[in-house]
Amino acid sequence: MVGISEDTDTPPEARRQRPGPGTAVTLTVTDKHHIADDVASLTLRHPDGDRLPDWTPGAHIDLILPDGTVRQYSLCGNRWDAYTYRVAVLREPEGRGGSAYLHDRLRPGDRLGVGGPRNHFPLAPSDAYVFIAGGIGITPLLPMIHQVQLLGLEWKLLYGGRTRHSMAFREELVAAYGERVEVVPQDERGLLPLDQWLGTPRPGTKVYSCGPGPLLAAVEAAGADWAPYALRSERFTAADQGAPVRSTAFEVELRRSGRTVTVTPEITVLDAVRAAGVDVLSSCRQGTCGTCLTPVIDGRPDHRDAILTDRQRAADDCMFVCVSRSCGDRLVLDL
Ligand code: FES
Repeated sequence: MVGISEDTDTPPEARRQRPGPGTAVTLTVTDKHHIADDVASLTLRHPDGDRLPDWTPGAHIDLILPDGTVRQYSLCGNRWDAYTYRVAVLREPEGRGGSAYLHDRLRPGDRLGVGGPRNHFPLAPSDAYVFIAGGIGITPLLPMIHQVQLLGLEWKLLYGGRTRHSMAFREELVAAYGERVEVVPQDERGLLPLDQWLGTPRPGTKVYSCGPGPLLAAVEAAGADWAPYALRSERFTAADQGAPVRSTAFEVELRRSGRTVTVTPEITVLDAVRAAGVDVLSSCRQGTCGTCLTPVIDGRPDHRDAILTDRQRAADDCMFVCVSRSCGDRLVLDL
């Protein structure tokens, strides 16, 4: 049955599906083509035609490149197709080379390691939805839109981009959904009319936004009067979290390994754990991808990621060790 069943008050799905080195599968690139300026669509299937793990709207997968780097991409295909994953990759000239490899060197027929899927941006039940996308931020919203459309719910999309031709899936969305979609190319119309869309809070409506940091900050400002948890966003880069709670060293006990490490102000928990010889998978090192999620057994983390909701932070039972630190003298991790 089609439905929205995610309970966003429970811990992230990643807590139950945490990928490790052994959980990646190797998939074949069966299609690659350009769908907008600097945006390539990749389709992946199992080499033996096997079924792929299920996913829900908002989920992403890790692509593990031949040099071992890991990049996250939102799944933007048909979630009811159990044999295919689709992602859209923006070429990032200022990036670390992952998107350049996928654009310039990857060919149909090549194989890639794939981790996940994981979902830190689940679609919560609501009577109505407002979707706000900036550029490639349309990708996690696309399966959400398909789902709420299937359910016959009320929804609208405000979609901005540098230019009309840089906006992936623009034509399909407009053709399929007409006036539900407002397209705002910046070179033609300027910035998104967020005050117009969010100026008046609407009970029973949730707002999902994804895009560059300045856009998400503008969405938060325009939606400041909305109810808590009505606005949900997925970030590509970490928001400024201010100074850490403590400026002095703290200890981290790795309960399963029987080790204790000292984390000085100059290093991250991830660095300290790795220096002790305990491996933790990581990717973005910015608190945005979710790869380094680690269960907390005792102590109070200083959460500095862009993933957990306030309620999830308050539970103090997990943390992203690439950026989060400790509020107290000691943390105990399940590592
Ligand atoms: S490595 Fe991405 S959240 Fe820690």
